[in-house]
Amino acid sequence: MECFSAPDFDHHEQVVFAHDAASGLKAIIAIHDTTRGPAMGGCRIWPYPDEAAALTNALRLSRGMTYKSALAGLPIGGGKAVIIGDAATVKTPALLHALGRAIDRLGGRYITAEDVGTSPADMAQVAQVTRFVTGISRDGSGGDPSPYTARGVYHGIRAAVRHRLGSDSLAGIHVAVQGLGHVGSALCKALSAAGARLTITDIDATRCHRIAHRLGATPVAPDAILDTEADVFAPCALGAVITTDTLPRLRVSIIAGAANNQLATDDLADALKARGILYAPDYAINAGGIIQVCHAYFGNDTPVDARVAGIYDILLDLFARADNRGINTLAAADGRARERLTNG
Ligand code: NAI
Repeated sequence: MECFSAPDFDHHEQVVFAHDAASGLKAIIAIHDTTRGPAMGGCRIWPYPDEAAALTNALRLSRGMTYKSALAGLPIGGGKAVIIGDAATVKTPALLHALGRAIDRLGGRYITAEDVGTSPADMAQVAQVTRFVTGISRDGSGGDPSPYTARGVYHGIRAAVRHRLGSDSLAGIHVAVQGLGHVGSALCKALSAAGARLTITDIDATRCHRIAHRLGATPVAPDAILDTEADVFAPCALGAVITTDTLPRLRVSIIAGAANNQLATDDLADALKARGILYAPDYAINAGGIIQVCHAYFGNDTPVDARVAGIYDILLDLFARADNRGINTLAAADGRARERLTNG
């Protein structure tokens, strides 16, 4: 297994392989860049097919965190921890404590949080052995960043609608929402309150119909959401929803949603531009969660809600930059994030 010559190795500062025989911990902690501050990023537990896949994931996700936090203007760098295994079977207090000790040995260069396969309650376990952990509420009961992610996406959609359709108001704007989990359901509520018209879907049909009934939205089958004629498509389920196969089906002028890695490959950003579809780069619009966990850890004079609302201005800036330079919006986001790493 290669590390320094792996395709996703991007001058990462430090990659740690952490093992604990007693608890069975096999973890990789990747610290990508600490130029702006300690590396922060969630801990994922996943049954990777092999160790190379786990390393790839840690390298890629930690780099993504550097860019996301830099673009959001946060005083942190990018990191990620991955634990190899099925959360349903490997996750024990002993394993979480072993992870916490490994993080503690890094002396604050990496601060962990919840991610796929871990919860705020798990972070409370980690916090028993290290202070380099966030995503836990003060009373130990919550810490879920999803409402902040949803709020940030809401402001991002407002920015995209303003840029593309010339209006700040969402009244009468038709949004097709894919995925009604923690983020998607909260987003729908906010959009509905702002007067948007909603078409929604989830593979959980019961949940979809319940939310549709509550908000007066139109429920559709999961596959039909891609063919829905609307102003905005908001992917809030899985990644890689935009592919060379799905792109020709889209009948929207804006893509703006919470899912990570919405484009199967980066070159699709050019294809979207060519089709006249405004793409709100995923890592710019879904930064509300990292803004909240960073805020919870370090505190800040600016209220967290105001920082999350700032995603509106960040996106307007990216759209203008893309237009002025004739580049796609993802390239504009990458360029702005790199500037922040160099110039602060
Ligand atoms: P979640 O797991 O609570 O919700 C995902 C929902 O999508 C579930 O209701 C699921 O049934 C549905 N779904 C899955 N496949 C689907 C399909 N093919 N068609 C329609 N619905 C489908 O996840 P959560 O927390 O709401 O996150 C949503 C997305 O946003 C994920 O991609 C996540 O990585 C991303 N994200 C979430 C953040 C957060 O704070 N929770 C932060 C940044 C990104």
